[in-house]
Amino acid sequence: MATLGLQHKAKTPVRRAPRAELAPNEDDANSIAELREAATGCRRCPLWRDATQTVFGEGPEGAEVIFVGEQPGDQEDLAGKPFVGPAGKMFDAILNDAGVDRQKIYVTNAVKHFKFEPRGKRRIHSKPNAGEVQACRWWLDREIGLIKPDVVVALGATAAQSLLGKAVPVTKMRGQVIERDDGLRVFITIHPSFILRIREAADKEAERGRFLQDMKQVKRLMAA
Ligand code: URA
Repeated sequence: MATLGLQHKAKTPVRRAPRAELAPNEDDANSIAELREAATGCRRCPLWRDATQTVFGEGPEGAEVIFVGEQPGDQEDLAGKPFVGPAGKMFDAILNDAGVDRQKIYVTNAVKHFKFEPRGKRRIHSKPNAGEVQACRWWLDREIGLIKPDVVVALGATAAQSLLGKAVPVTKMRGQVIERDDGLRVFITIHPSFILRIREAADKEAERGRFLQDMKQVKRLMAA
């Protein structure tokens, strides 16, 4: 048996990926494209085990603003793209109303793998814990470092915690710009999925209006 195995091995050429196909080391990534490639193999926390894939940020490298959500949802996990599900569609519509072109902004998440609880055939969103947010902050810091935006928008508490390194009362601080020690301006607002969860039509519309005002303020910050 051992001999047969050796013969088999000798006949099968060892296939090596051409150098260009190798994932760059995450520390050596010098562009968003290289960083995204490196993140496909991220093992910084256990969330990669159950998720379909890493959902990295998307948008131009010269973007003036980065929007940071919490983590990919079910549809984002399958598509490999941030904010393409129901919250993403609402987000797009409100950005459009505010005159912000999604093609010109960079959209990412504090945590880049989908965390969920299986319930029958469904996968129910589960909030990432502080350790998972902290582990994934390495990628967010690199995205910010490469893009060097004028302003970063924290969409909800998880993004705010990641960007500011502490728990932030989002509803109280919403609409404020916090300047970090490194000079980065962080605009605080709610997560668009909060609007989706409101049942009463009038309340939903009012909250949508408030979020629209926040997006208009972001647009002014971009221009300033
Ligand atoms: N919610 C998020 O925070 N991010 C996404 O990409 C989608 C939904």
